[in-house]
Amino acid sequence: MSYEVIMRRPFVAGNWKMFKTAAEARILLSELLPGLSSIKEVEIVLCPPFTTILPVASLLEGTAIGVGAQNMHWEKEGAFTGEVAPPMLAEFCKYVILGHSERRAYFGETDDNVNRKVKAALTHGLVPIMCVGETLTENEAGITREVVITQTKKGLSGVDSASIASVVIAYEPVWAIGTGRAATAEGANNVIAGMIRSWLSQNYGDDIAQQVRILYGGSVKASNAAEFFQFPEIDGALVGGASLKAAEFIPIVKAAAR
Ligand code: PGA
Repeated sequence: MSYEVIMRRPFVAGNWKMFKTAAEARILLSELLPGLSSIKEVEIVLCPPFTTILPVASLLEGTAIGVGAQNMHWEKEGAFTGEVAPPMLAEFCKYVILGHSERRAYFGETDDNVNRKVKAALTHGLVPIMCVGETLTENEAGITREVVITQTKKGLSGVDSASIASVVIAYEPVWAIGTGRAATAEGANNVIAGMIRSWLSQNYGDDIAQQVRILYGGSVKASNAAEFFQFPEIDGALVGGASLKAAEFIPIVKAAAR
């Protein structure tokens, strides 16, 4: 167990979703930085909306906090109105969230699209944070395993063993996102360890599977973060609503520095 904990650096990403203008982001950063900059054990990433990436990236220069986007196109350029290409992000970001359930549900993102994006991210030196997770209906129908494994398998199709350790996977049950109703830590651990990591082991071998960071996401708050992080298989969190409040996000990151 301790071997795994040592190998995988805890990872906490804040998904700002469609919140924060550049001016508002400056205020939030002034509240976050004093608390976050002393936490060295955790890989911390902030994912603002596209227009706020550049100002956030300049304000974070010289800190260890990384910047990520929330989506991107898979082509490196082209006539795709309204889209943003991987090399455009790579100028300012190191990370990109891909396949978030809100993109799947509201913007028709498929496993095939997610797969193209994951591969494009890796090609352009971006760390993909690939989201998987079942809906409430799927959860109640008892098909969580099937859904999560299918999304993982299709999303990672064609990703070779040399690249897989750079991928971060976020298990985000859809029914827990933005609802205030988090999964139980034990339930999240069962999916992360028993389904996702065990699928990685079977397909990439144990050694490589042990290097992949797998996060939990869905109503993570200051008050419940430590429950999740007590499980060594849960390597951190993808945080939505609570990442917009310094008083919530800072304690979550601290809890991950176990
Ligand atoms: P939430 O969102 O923390 O607000 O539930 C998580 C996410 O969407 O990544």
